[in-house]
Amino acid sequence: MLSVTLNISVIGTGYLGATHAACMAELGFDVIGVDVDPEKIDSLSRGDLPFHEPGLPELIRKHVDSGRLRFTTDMGEVGAWADVHFIAVGTPQLPGGTGADMTYVDAATTSLAQAITKDRALIVGKSTVPVGTAARLYDLVKAEKNDDVDLSLAWNPEFLREGFAVKDTVEPDRLVVGTRHEADEQLLREVYAEALDRSTPWVSTDFETAELVKVAANAFLATKISFINAFSEVTETVGGDIATLADAIGFDERIGRKFLNAGVGFGGGCLPKDIRALQTRVGELGLDHTMRFLNEMDHINLRRRDRVISLAEEILGGDYAGTDENHSAVEGKRIAVLGITFKPLSDDVRDSPGLDIAGRLYNAGADVSVYDPQGNANAAKRFPRLGYVDSMTEAARGADLVVLTTEWNEFKQLAPADLNEVVAKRQFIDARNVLPAPEWEQAGWTIAQLGRKFD
Ligand code: UGA
Repeated sequence: MLSVTLNISVIGTGYLGATHAACMAELGFDVIGVDVDPEKIDSLSRGDLPFHEPGLPELIRKHVDSGRLRFTTDMGEVGAWADVHFIAVGTPQLPGGTGADMTYVDAATTSLAQAITKDRALIVGKSTVPVGTAARLYDLVKAEKNDDVDLSLAWNPEFLREGFAVKDTVEPDRLVVGTRHEADEQLLREVYAEALDRSTPWVSTDFETAELVKVAANAFLATKISFINAFSEVTETVGGDIATLADAIGFDERIGRKFLNAGVGFGGGCLPKDIRALQTRVGELGLDHTMRFLNEMDHINLRRRDRVISLAEEILGGDYAGTDENHSAVEGKRIAVLGITFKPLSDDVRDSPGLDIAGRLYNAGADVSVYDPQGNANAAKRFPRLGYVDSMTEAARGADLVVLTTEWNEFKQLAPADLNEVVAKRQFIDARNVLPAPEWEQAGWTIAQLGRKFD
């Protein structure tokens, strides 16, 4: 049970904000979610989510019904009501640039600070931001009010993963708070009392460290993935098995096995844009050389997509692959792409390796048929010309090549017999290394995986 009564607002009801609002209600607080988009507010108020996240629609409905959670577009109402305001708006990659677009964070913080009418309130940044943002916003917020209003700002980065967002928010593996005042930290301890009771590690620090912890975590994860994928390039050349290599180094507890799954690499709305924004930010600070290795991680990651395209050309073109500059060996071929989201349990196609590959195959003249359990609709908005179908079998019908780009469970369970008679040619690229290749080979398939030598 809550020992304090705090009203909480969450500004921004996208992925992060909607999850945080619902989870704060689950923890027992009265919560308002705020967004500038009235349509989003309407559908959230009905418990409908514009994106796929297991368990979240149920949680939102539960607390809309219990009365603990509501949504509004009215910042004035929120400013007069809430004690703690979480800023959870997006910081996407700048169009045509590599830095983070701060428009939404700045606008949300400014309009919120202007709307606050309580004697005491705390604004808490959750968005992923370039280091230095919290200090800048702190000054902005302080400048907004005179001394009789106790308005402050803290930074509390979020580490939730898509697909596990509710669990990661309610049971975080650590809580990081950057504050300038003891009282602000105490208030956040009250908000997170339940997690603290379970001995969740609590890292209390300054603004800069809190901001950097977030980007450092994502940069480390991206580096881990690209590290193993760089070894893939070696095993593809000399032979060897990348999964065994990952298992073997992963037994060393200092290294750990997680995030060492070689394949077509990372995508999504976080890892790619965060490593680019971090490099951009340190460049602005005159430290261009410091994060240069992240540029290499980005390149290794993107090269994995090129590798899938060249494997497709190799498989479909046989000996003639790559010999004609004007034509690709995939031209006129029917290719099934299984998985279009950047990872399973999500309908997010932002910077998705699967969508990138499907689009490039299409642009090279292939007839591409796509199936994803959740991602077809979002992918069709970005790349309408691909053929989106409702099942794996439909996608694979008559295919000269099947390419698996997202490791959804239903693809992992795929057996050769499911497709033997469906495809035109038994040719497969398993770009997530999840299928038992020998079994497929025995069934007469040519199957290529990443990190395995392919003859
Ligand atoms: C990532 C972080 O994992 C979260 O901790 C963080 O809070 C979040 O970004 C964020 O900044 O908001 P997410 O984008 O949901 O979470 O996705 P991940 O589970 O990290 O996967 C990222 C990509 O890496 C996916 O495309 C996945 O397929 C790929 N990946 C992951 C690999 O290629 N190999 C692996 O071993 C693991």
